[in-house]
Amino acid sequence: MGFQTLYSVPMTDPILVPLRFERRDGEEMLAAASAFRQELEARRSVRSFSTDPIPEGVIEECLRAAGSAPSGANLQPWSFVVVSEPSLKRRIREAAEVEERENYEWRMGEAWLRDLEAFGTDENKPFLEDAPVLIVVFRQAYGLDDEEKRKHYYVMESVGIATGFLLAALHKAGLATLTHTPSPMGFLEGILERSENERAYLLIPVGYPADGCKVPDITRKPYEDFVDER
Ligand SMILES: Cc1cc2nc3c(=O)[nH]c(=O)nc-3n(C[C@H](O)[C@H](O)[C@H](O)COP(=O)(O)O)c2cc1C
Repeated sequence: MGFQTLYSVPMTDPILVPLRFERRDGEEMLAAASAFRQELEARRSVRSFSTDPIPEGVIEECLRAAGSAPSGANLQPWSFVVVSEPSLKRRIREAAEVEERENYEWRMGEAWLRDLEAFGTDENKPFLEDAPVLIVVFRQAYGLDDEEKRKHYYVMESVGIATGFLLAALHKAGLATLTHTPSPMGFLEGILERSENERAYLLIPVGYPADGCKVPDITRKPYEDFVDER
């Protein structure tokens, strides 16, 4: 039997299926949680990539993991564009460097530049050509079903979670990534010919670290500083 909402919009009964879930004992849970933590703690952003290719199928598996993320009303407001074609990577690099030149010259301001000092970054982005794959994440501001606009809910949260799944999956698979934001990133919508509802969200070079790759010596907040247990 159907049921009614407060506004008397007719609704259909949801179709429910059994949950796939297995309880583990405490020891096993702790070991799994600890192993996963240690694995994630080893992830670092890489800014110097080898040009070595990625084995067939690995990126697809990681993207499927990303696509399994939760999202507002399950509307999955994301698209991932996988770019490996050298001429396309070159165009993306050139356009990103145009924006980044302006960012570093005047847009970012003193405080931001000071915060970036520890990373040694500048307007040059060779990794956008060196990395064998660039994954460009788009958020869908609204849905487009048969040219009809459909509201999307919690788009930023949903795409952020899916991207987190993706970064974790790529790391677990043995690949290095950089979470890159050469803003404003509208150029990616043009170069990759995306539809009008899509906005560039992140640009993620993926591959192997270059030989001798070094990363900034950073620290993490102590547990007590970011968790409030009551
Ligand atoms: C939303 C976001 C945007 C970022 N944008 C850039 C970027 O444009 N360029 C860059 O070199 N790193 C960028 N980073 C990487 C951060 O600098 C890096 O994650 C942080 O320093 C922690 O280092 P780790 O990733 O090695 O743990 C970004 C990270 C996030 C989450």
